[in-house]
Amino acid sequence: MNKTRGLIIAGNWKMNHGPRATADFFTQLKTGWAKLPAAAAQALQAGSVHARIFTPAVSLTAARESAAGTPITIGAQNAHGEKDGAFTGELSAGLLQEVGIGSTLVGHSERRQFFGETDATARARAEGLLAQGMEVMFCIGETRVEREGGQTKAVLERQIDQGMTAAMFSAGAGAHGFPRFTLAYEPVWAIGTGLNATPEQAEEAHQMIRKHLWTRFGVENASRTPILYGGSVKPDNVASLLDGSNVDGALVGGASLKADSYLALLAACGKYAYA
Ligand code: PGA
Repeated sequence: MNKTRGLIIAGNWKMNHGPRATADFFTQLKTGWAKLPAAAAQALQAGSVHARIFTPAVSLTAARESAAGTPITIGAQNAHGEKDGAFTGELSAGLLQEVGIGSTLVGHSERRQFFGETDATARARAEGLLAQGMEVMFCIGETRVEREGGQTKAVLERQIDQGMTAAMFSAGAGAHGFPRFTLAYEPVWAIGTGLNATPEQAEEAHQMIRKHLWTRFGVENASRTPILYGGSVKPDNVASLLDGSNVDGALVGGASLKADSYLALLAACGKYAYA
């Protein structure tokens, strides 16, 4: 199977792994790297597959330093769109860039669920961050009640309509060749629950999203934007989820915390062609 947009395998460590555990993770990862199947290692080296880990803020520098010598890049889990100012507890693009961090998640469902993030605030963050040169992985997804109520399509379309603008899709490519603006579809009912979407459910939602991006932002923007799947992705289900032709990677919480498990996710990328 051909993955013309490449693949992004992203880890989201959430509120886990301080600097010490981060250094240990990368020590183990470097030891295990040699065991990656040649095809996966080659795709990572060539940049067809991009590996990224979103760490807690206090671990960003340790992660960036420990990841040196690997193709893995490090991102933040949240950042503010303003350049500076009275925003206690927040991080700006400039603060992150000063410590060598050029990417961040925006609008993760846990930010929406527990910290008052809305489509509008996520949009403002993404707009500001992209304008300051950051890469943004923007998260969307429906809750269990919304899915069971037949609202999945309407919710995803609302999150796109209210959270995204044409300018985001014109942000161009980042340092690793992937667009600076990427999407992650994470059904809330599948996050941390062990209930992953089936490959068919994931592909169906990704198709819905891409179709709506096409309608709103044109065929080129729709077809070049990577859409990652997230929600209980594990080494034993990652390959079937990635088989979806509109699935361009995975955003992984729990299964990204251990080096062996993260390496097993990367290994799954060896079965695709990337021309
Ligand atoms: P999970 O988390 O893989 O632990 O379900 C995914 C996420 O929230 O990004």
